[in-house]
Order: sequence, then structure tokens, then C-alpha cells
Amino acid sequence: MSPSTSRNPTLKLGFVLHGVGAGWGDWRHEAAVADGSVNFRFYTEQAQLAEKGCFDFLFVADSVHITERSSPHYLNRFEPLTILSALAAVTRHIGLVGTVTASYSEPFTVARQFASLDHISGGRAGWNVVTSWLDGSARNYSRQAHYAHDVRYRLAHEHLNVVQGLWDSWEDDALTRNKATGQFFDPAKLHRLDHQGEFFQVEGPLNIARSRQGQPVIFQAGASEDGKTFAAQRADAIFFHADTLEEAQAYYRDVKARVVAAGRDPEQVFLLPGIRPIVGRTAQEAEEKYETLAALVPIENAIAALARPFNDHDFSQYPLDAPFPDVGDLGRNSQQAASDRIKQIAAETGWTLREVALWYARPKRAFVGTAEQVADELQRWFEQGAADGFNFFEALPNTSLKDFVELVVPLLQARGLLRHAYQEQATFRDLLNLPFPINRHTEARLRAQTGSRQAPVNTVVAA
Ligand SMILES: Cc1cc2nc3c(=O)[nH]c(=O)nc-3n(C[C@H](O)[C@H](O)[C@H](O)COP(=O)(O)O)c2cc1C
Repeated sequence: MSPSTSRNPTLKLGFVLHGVGAGWGDWRHEAAVADGSVNFRFYTEQAQLAEKGCFDFLFVADSVHITERSSPHYLNRFEPLTILSALAAVTRHIGLVGTVTASYSEPFTVARQFASLDHISGGRAGWNVVTSWLDGSARNYSRQAHYAHDVRYRLAHEHLNVVQGLWDSWEDDALTRNKATGQFFDPAKLHRLDHQGEFFQVEGPLNIARSRQGQPVIFQAGASEDGKTFAAQRADAIFFHADTLEEAQAYYRDVKARVVAAGRDPEQVFLLPGIRPIVGRTAQEAEEKYETLAALVPIENAIAALARPFNDHDFSQYPLDAPFPDVGDLGRNSQQAASDRIKQIAAETGWTLREVALWYARPKRAFVGTAEQVADELQRWFEQGAADGFNFFEALPNTSLKDFVELVVPLLQARGLLRHAYQEQATFRDLLNLPFPINRHTEARLRAQTGSRQAPVNTVVAA
């Protein structure tokens, strides 16, 4: 597929496989599958439904530390690469994106796992590179202390360099498998990495070749200054949160400017806010669904949710109806941007702890309404510089995706904002209209042969 230089007319759509839901009480909803986070049949149904809705990708989030205070989905869930590999076998077109932390994984293992998923799925893998914000993660990985926030991003840069370097170990035509001559591979086209860095020393080469899409697609979601810069420099697609169009526009402008500053094409880096649409057949039905959902977030659950960006801090120790407590620097080594924002909102509004917690944890009003209203709002965000697409979380468990695919997807398709069908054999990069990444060693050879200083773009076609 050729590189795109103008904005793609269709929006990018991801569905978050989140089992029993993101909150503490979602699993109690009448439609929720109470063991949904470890229920392969349920995930298969959801994956196939998202594919029926012509979504671009499925996303499986992850973290590596729990406590008694973690939410039900976090307490008991699948490891992303494992569930995505299984889902590769029961889907045909949709991209498969999983989180793996750079802070607590070895790049050689990560490179191998994603390359394997990429082969198993016919070129549909994507990696959400996270740095991990829960400090208990360290204690599950033989470290006493969590890495500091800035160190985590420095480490992530190097980790990703190593993984992407390993992914290019084999040039695309290196495995000749010539039974007549007995040549299994061309040794000139197999490359060691020999990486010696601050955090990693990795010789290589990787023991699996590139897939049909060259390399898995890179996702990122850092929201702090370091996080946004890292994402802008390295990711193909970036997740973020925004409650309003204006907030999303500001974030979008900020990160796209960083993409340009990094010397990259802003049309080839997609910004995808998380959304939780609530669709009704009438506006009143949507409102009733909203109220049902809000009722699933009593104050105790809201306090637990609020604790997350603050490294699971115990907020129940403070009086609920007093002003939001002064927690100092708490949260700065965890989810820096989210915790800073909560402190800022609390300071600006003078809200009590109860008010801040309920505002934070209860569903937001954007994307609540009839199918027409929700489609209008998605289109407005897409066309007014707030989003290149969306990452869809189910607001109502085991309900919202069905509503969306049945009622909103046909409207998006009719407006030319979403494909009507997948192209056969398309890779994830094809779906996203991203160019095929030429193998760096092939590129160097071609450059040497032509004597050109200019990189030959897309001159090699995937096997
Ligand atoms: C849609 C979305 C998905 C995310 N998924 C994960 C995830 O699976 N695992 C994780 O540790 N963090 C996840 N994050 C959090 C970010 O990766 C990042 O750690 C967080 O925003 C804090 O980064 P900061 O300290 O740079 O602000 C996600 C964020 C968003 C917006």
C-alpha cells in the first residue's frame, strides 16, 4: 500500500476488550458477563461483533500488579498476547493490539511474542508500549523500587529501539527455503543487532522473521510531557482521554505539533481519544441507560477509581465532604498527567473529595444520545481537529458494542466515515493506511547500491 500524504477520509476505530468493565460496579449490571475478563467465548463474541462493525482493531490493556483495591477486571484477566493469539484464530481482518510494559519485560521476549502474533494473524499485530504507573509492579519483577517517571520513558525509548531492531533481523527475502539447493536462508540477509545501551545489551538476531506487514504497529498513551513527546516520536497511534471537544482539540494540537517537531508526517500518526458511547433508540432511553450506569458508581467505587492515578492511594482516610485533601506530590511518579489534572480541577473548583471522586469516576456526557446524535458528535470530533478516530470502551457491559454496531455503524458507513467491508488479505497497516516499513538493512543496501543519500521509500514489497 502506498504512503498517504493527505488525511484519510475514514476514521480509525478500536474496541477495548475489557471483560467485566472498567469500573468497580459494572460487573453487577444485568447484562454483564460476570467472568467476562477470563471468558474466551465472550471475548470471541465481542471480537467477532467488532469485526462485523468493521472496526480497525481490538485492544487489550494490561498492568502487572494488583491489590485488594484493584477493580474486578484487573483482579482476574487474560494476559494480552495469549488472548490476542487465540482471537487471531477466530477473526480474519481486525487488528490485534495488546499492551506490554517496557519497564518490566525483556525486549528480546517482547519482539518474539509480537512477531509471533503478527505471523499467526497474517500481519495484524500492534503493540501498546506502556511504562507502567503502579509502583508495586517492581515487586513482581524482582526490583525493590519502581523506576522513576523520567527513567521509565528513557528506558522505553531504548527498549523500543531494541525491539524494532530485532524485528529487522531478517530481510524480507532472507528465508529462501530452496529444497533443490539445500539453502534454507541467505546468510547475507540475516543481521545481528549487537545493541549495547544503558539498560539493555542484546546481541540478536531474532529467531523469527518479519511478517506480511513488516513490523507490528506501535501504540502509546503517555499523557505527561515526557509521555506525549515519546508518543509523538515513536507511535503510529496514540490513545488519550478527553471529556470535551475543546479538551480533545487542545490535546490533538499539542501532540500533532510534537509529531511535526519530531520530523514525522502528522497524517501518519493517529490520535484516538477513548470514548464510552451510550446509545438509545430515543434520547430518553439513552438518558435512562446513562442513569443506570451512574448508579453503578456509588461513592465507595468512585473513591477506589480516583485512587488509581495516585498509585492506589487510600482516599477513604479523608473526610468526604471536606475540600479535596492536599496530597502533595502524590501521583507524580504514577499517572503524572491524570493526577496533576485532578489536583488542578479540585483547586479550580474548590470541590469536596466526594464531588471530585464522583466527577472523575462517573460516566461523562459526551456521546450519550440517539444513534444520530452520537454519529454527529463523532463526526464533529473527527472533522474539527479533535480525533483521527476513537478507542471504544463499553459503557454498559455486553450492551454498548451491540448498540453501536447495530445503530451507529450504519450511519458512519453511510456518511463515508467507516469502511463497508474489509479488503481481503489486508494487513493492519493496510487497514490504517500506514506505509510498509522497509527493512533497515535492505534500505541500507539499496542506498549503497544507488549511491543515494535519500532513503528509497517502499521499494520492497512484503513477501
Ligand atoms: C486508552 C488508554 C489506554 C491505556 N492503556 C494502558 C495499559 O494497558 N496499561 C498501562 O499501564 N497504562 C495504560 N494507559 C496509561 C498510559 O500508558 C500512561 O501510563 C498513563 O497515561 C500515564 O502516563 P504519564 O505518566 O505519561 O501521564 C492507557 C491510557 C489510555 C488513555
